[in-house]
Amino acid sequence: MEGVVPIRLVAGREIDILDQTLLPGEERQITLRDVDGVVEAIQRLRVRGAPLLGVMGAAGMALAAYTLGAAEKRLRVAATTIGRARPTAVDLSRACDDALGLALKEQEVARPKALWRHAENYVARRILEDRAMGALGADVIADASAVLTHCNTGALATGGIGTALGVIRAAWERGTLTHCYATETRPLLQGARLTMWELAALGIPATLLPDTASAALIASGRVGAVITGADRIAANGDTANKVGTYGLAVVAARHGVPLYIAAPTSTIDIGCASGSGIPIEYRAAGEVGGFGGARWAPAGTDAFNPAFDVTPAELIAAIITEDKVYRPPFEFAGN
Ligand code: MRU
Repeated sequence: MEGVVPIRLVAGREIDILDQTLLPGEERQITLRDVDGVVEAIQRLRVRGAPLLGVMGAAGMALAAYTLGAAEKRLRVAATTIGRARPTAVDLSRACDDALGLALKEQEVARPKALWRHAENYVARRILEDRAMGALGADVIADASAVLTHCNTGALATGGIGTALGVIRAAWERGTLTHCYATETRPLLQGARLTMWELAALGIPATLLPDTASAALIASGRVGAVITGADRIAANGDTANKVGTYGLAVVAARHGVPLYIAAPTSTIDIGCASGSGIPIEYRAAGEVGGFGGARWAPAGTDAFNPAFDVTPAELIAAIITEDKVYRPPFEFAGN
């Protein structure tokens, strides 16, 4: 058992998800029965995190084949609709395109079952890859007794043990890491709500900080490394991740603290030459001016609200994947 289960594929016809917008206050499962439900869940961040978006892409395509029919035209529309629900995490569109390619190799009648099997295999692969990444990453951060992480990259974000949080967990299990600092991750608070919840469940001693305290924490010398996940890694190593990662990278470099990225190979997009080619999702101003039912900015306030930013490769000490630790200059297979 890897911990919390954010997605379950049920009886070949439904996807049960843990609604992450309600955590940690409420653990509510909701059932998705069609493509519209899948897209809504992705866009509202009921499910989130790049690898889990890949799972949703694969599972959503299977659901599409059962509910809309498995004719090529319908599957192509589904792949576009689901694949573009959020633009930055390449795992989502890639999983939809891969599922489409696999389906089109089958007779139409065989496609729904083949897609469902593919989605189940996708979930199983995530679990294995996360474990492998955790082991490799624990070697990389072996000298750091405390680390800082950003956003949520644990089981909730992948369905396995997580990427950066999986590395942290593996290092904790080995006994080399004794403390984890987590940013709150404004504006949607994935760090405060989700990462702190996961760390508590794992029993890893942890401290929450406002995003604005990150520079002070790094300058204090209390963390030996910063480690985050990624939504898309360009061919030159430039990495898109939750907004604020770039700022952490600049401050970490200023203080000689290494910044590590942990992400599966599926997050590397060698078709994207550099960070300038990565599409960045911008979200509604209302997310910045309040949260849940509470509003603190005046009605109609404009906001600059990118969900992600790009950290240049030169600020990244290593990229940890499930089968290799890449060091600069980054050259990925197929480059
Ligand atoms: O907007 P989110 O919550 O989907 O953003 C998630 C992140 O930025 C994660 O760091 C990234 O997807 C890696 S998750 C293992």
